[in-house]
Amino acid sequence: MQYRTFGCLDWKPSALGFGAMRLPVLDGDPKRIDEEQATAMLQLAIDGGVNYVDTAYPYHGGTGEVFIGKALEGGNRSKVRLATKLPCWLVTGADDFERYLDEQLARLCTESIDCYLLHSLSKGTWSKVRDLGVLDWAERAKADGRIQHLGFSFHDSYPVFQEIIDAYDNWDFCQIQYNYMDIEQQAGRRGLQYAAAKGLGVVVMEPIRGGHLANPPDPIKMLWSQAENPRSPADWALQWVWDQAEVSLVLSGMSTLAQVQENLTSAERSQIGSLSNEEQALIAQACEKYRTMSPVPCTGCGYCQPCPQGVRIPAVLELYNEAIMYNTAIRSRFVYANWFRPEGKADRCTRCGQCLEHCPQAIPIPQWLEKAQRFLSGEEVR
Ligand SMILES: NC(=O)c1ccc[n+]([C@@H]2O[C@H](COP(=O)([O-])OP(=O)(O)OC[C@H]3O[C@@H](n4cnc5c(N)ncnc54)[C@H](OP(=O)(O)O)[C@@H]3O)[C@@H](O)[C@H]2O)c1
Repeated sequence: MQYRTFGCLDWKPSALGFGAMRLPVLDGDPKRIDEEQATAMLQLAIDGGVNYVDTAYPYHGGTGEVFIGKALEGGNRSKVRLATKLPCWLVTGADDFERYLDEQLARLCTESIDCYLLHSLSKGTWSKVRDLGVLDWAERAKADGRIQHLGFSFHDSYPVFQEIIDAYDNWDFCQIQYNYMDIEQQAGRRGLQYAAAKGLGVVVMEPIRGGHLANPPDPIKMLWSQAENPRSPADWALQWVWDQAEVSLVLSGMSTLAQVQENLTSAERSQIGSLSNEEQALIAQACEKYRTMSPVPCTGCGYCQPCPQGVRIPAVLELYNEAIMYNTAIRSRFVYANWFRPEGKADRCTRCGQCLEHCPQAIPIPQWLEKAQRFLSGEEVR
């Protein structure tokens, strides 16, 4: 295993961290973790030198922390830094900070959380927990030893990211979504560099874009086949992140023993600045190719919103684009069926045309919504 640096802390994180959000489950039920398989995966990772485990209050419908607590008993707890997160969106009053932390310590069978994050901060959740005094509360929890280090995970735009970093001098670390398709999205490369320059450890999540980059369509496979050093698509994605000095560690939410083994092997070969100019150029080409495969030239600017019928136009078009680009029709249809509220779906479009007046890209939105609806509902294959 390769070890890196973690902001200002005197500790060397393993290049690969164990993300516990996508553990194998029984009968397709996210709450029923396949404990035998998941324990073997965690053990393999720790034996391979992984020293950071990331979970959160809602993972696996609340059973994730309990599983991790059990799996780290018997000697493994002291081998890793354990990270979990305050579910900020569930917080309704200042008492909740204490209540969730105590519940999490019990679930995780530990007296102290090494790395505690404010989970999934966005403009709204940040201002809510900040105004409820989360930072003063966290300082007290650090002083009494229940939290060792404080950070936050993030899903919003760069200006919000910068605002959060600048609002507090004692952040130890942050966690951002970062991969070769998301250089400009969310915190992005600017955020990575800003946080690292301020002395924070930066944990990267979704390095394989939640698995999207692991199973590419043929044009991308063709590109990878041109490389002098053959690599799997997952390895390309991981090495691209590890190549960058500002990254402290890369979390992967592995789902099988084989993925743990493969990613351990990748981590072993990782180095800052190890990708050649030709390899960097090939990744840039892959990125460009993916973008040309996106059918709708929507930039997500949101000028089309609000739709009088409530259709979440940018979200529908993004899901449709991703399904085509990343070859993930089944997953996208699942998301559309289960996670999209009916009132935001494309079939609510009445073709009133209001969006057409506002779209700076002159996209024929109603036509695309109709196509996206047919595809995402499974009526039409392409
Ligand atoms: N704080 C937050 O807001 C937040 C949000 C997201 C994630 N996270 C954390 O960050 C962790 C990492 O994010 P992520 O799970 O999205 O990471 P990821 O590595 O981008 O995606 C994980 C998925 O990639 C695929 N994969 C991984 N290794 C592979 C390999 N060697 N070959 C082929 N496919 C491979 C698997 O997909 P298949 O299962 O389809 O095979 C796996 O489920 C999470 O587990 C979680 O702990 C936090």
